[in-house]
Amino acid sequence: MKVKEIPSIKTSVPGPKSASIIEEAKKYLVTTTRFSYIVIAKMENDLIFDVDGNVYIDLAAGIAVANIGHRNPEVLAAVKAQLEKYIHTGPHDWFDEIQLEYAKKLVKYIPGQFDKKVFYANSGTESVEAAIKIARWNKKRPLILAFYGAFHGRSLGSLTLTASKKAHRRYFYPYYLSVHAPYAYCYRCPFKLDPSNCNAYCADFIEEWIFEKVAPPEDIAAIIAEPIQGEGGYVVPHPLFIEKIAKMAKKYDMLFIVDEVQTGFARTGKMFSIEHFNAVQDIITVAKSIANGFPLGATVIRSDLDFGYEGAHSSTFGGNAVSLAAANATLDYIIKHRLWERAAKLGDQALKIFNELKDETEILGDVRGKGLFIGLEFVKNKDTKEYGTEERDKITELAYKKGLVVLPAGRSVLRLAPPLTITDENWDYALNILVEIIKEVDKKRT
Ligand SMILES: Cc1ncc(COP(=O)(O)O)c(C=O)c1O
Repeated sequence: MKVKEIPSIKTSVPGPKSASIIEEAKKYLVTTTRFSYIVIAKMENDLIFDVDGNVYIDLAAGIAVANIGHRNPEVLAAVKAQLEKYIHTGPHDWFDEIQLEYAKKLVKYIPGQFDKKVFYANSGTESVEAAIKIARWNKKRPLILAFYGAFHGRSLGSLTLTASKKAHRRYFYPYYLSVHAPYAYCYRCPFKLDPSNCNAYCADFIEEWIFEKVAPPEDIAAIIAEPIQGEGGYVVPHPLFIEKIAKMAKKYDMLFIVDEVQTGFARTGKMFSIEHFNAVQDIITVAKSIANGFPLGATVIRSDLDFGYEGAHSSTFGGNAVSLAAANATLDYIIKHRLWERAAKLGDQALKIFNELKDETEILGDVRGKGLFIGLEFVKNKDTKEYGTEERDKITELAYKKGLVVLPAGRSVLRLAPPLTITDENWDYALNILVEIIKEVDKKRT
C-alpha cells in the first residue's frame, strides 16, 4: 500500500461491522478496558486494518508491546521453527535449552554489573508478583513502598502497589501491606515546588515523614518504581528522583525493584529506562514488548536473591517455548537494528513539534517523554491546570476518525507509543494529523 493511501478511513468509526461486533461482544465478554472504536482484523508493522476495511496508523503498539512491529517476519520465522519442535514443556518443571539460551542473552542487556537470574512468567503482573515474593523472602519484612500514579498490575498482589486510578483499587481492598509515597510528577508537584530548585524533595519526604510517621524502614522490604510512569500519565520524574530513592533503598537495606514492563526493550531511547538515571536496580520486571506480542514476563534478580529452595515459586506456562522463541528473535532484532537509537531520534522530533504546539495552544499543558514514550497532558486552562479530560477524549475520538490509533493515560494524557519500526513517512504523517486535531480542539474551546 502506498504511503499516501494510509491511513484510509472509508466508513464511520466504528464502521458498521465493527459496531455490530462490539455490541454483541459486550454481551459475552466481561467488561475490562476495551475502546469501542475499532474491531481489528489484521495488523502489520505500524498498521492496523479493521473489519470494515479501514486502515489506521498505530500509535499504541498494543500498549507498548509490538516494539518491533506487528507480525515482525523474524519473530514469525522463529515461532514457526519452534512450533515444529514443541510448544509446552512445563518450563518450571523441566529444563529445555531455549530457557537457558534466552536467559543468558537477556541478562547481558539488563543493567547492573552483577550475576543475574531469571524467573519466567506470563505477564507483567506476574513478574511483579515474583518480585514481591523475592523481596519478602530475602528481607523478611512485610511492606513494599510504591508511588502514587504507579501501575504494577491488577492481580491482588501487584494491585496493592498500583495506585494510578481509583477505579483499579476500589472494591478490592484490603491487600497485603503496602505504603505509597508521592512520585516526582513535576507538572503537578504534590508539594507545589519548583523543579528547578526543589532537589527532588519528594524523595526526601519519604525519609522525613513516611519513615517517621507511617512505616519504619526496617519494616519495608523493597521500594518499587517505574523509572518513567506509564499508566499514571507517561510521567518523566525529576532527574534526581530515581537516583535518590535507589540510594535510600540501599541505605536502609531494602531492595530496589524497577518495573520496566511498559518502558523496556528500547522504547525510551535506551534498552531500559532506568539507564536514563544514575541508579541500578536489584530486581527488574519486564513483560509487554519482551516477545513482541507473545505472552511472556520475566523477573530478573541479582543472583544472590534467589529463593534457593524448590516450591517457593513456580508457574505452569511461564517461559513457554513459543513465547521464548519470539523473545529471542525480538531481542536479536532490537540489537541488530539498534532500535533504541531510532526511538530516541523519532521521539526527539516529536517532542520538538509538540513543545512548539504547546506554546501556541491553551489546552496542551505539558509535553514529556523519552524516545517513543511520549505523553501529552491536556488542561482546560494553563494557569489553573484543570484536567482537560474532555479535551483529551475529544482528541482521541478525532484521531481514530482520522485514522490514528492512540491511547489515553493518567487523567488527561494522550500517550504515544508506536512500534519503534514505524516508517518515517507514517510517523511524520501521524504527527501532522495530531497537530491539526489538537489545534482544532483548542480553537473550538476558545
Ligand atoms: C509498568 C507496568 N507494570 C505492570 C503491568 C502489568 O502488566 P500486565 O498487564 O501484563 O499484567 C503494566 C501494564 O500495563 C505496566 O505498565
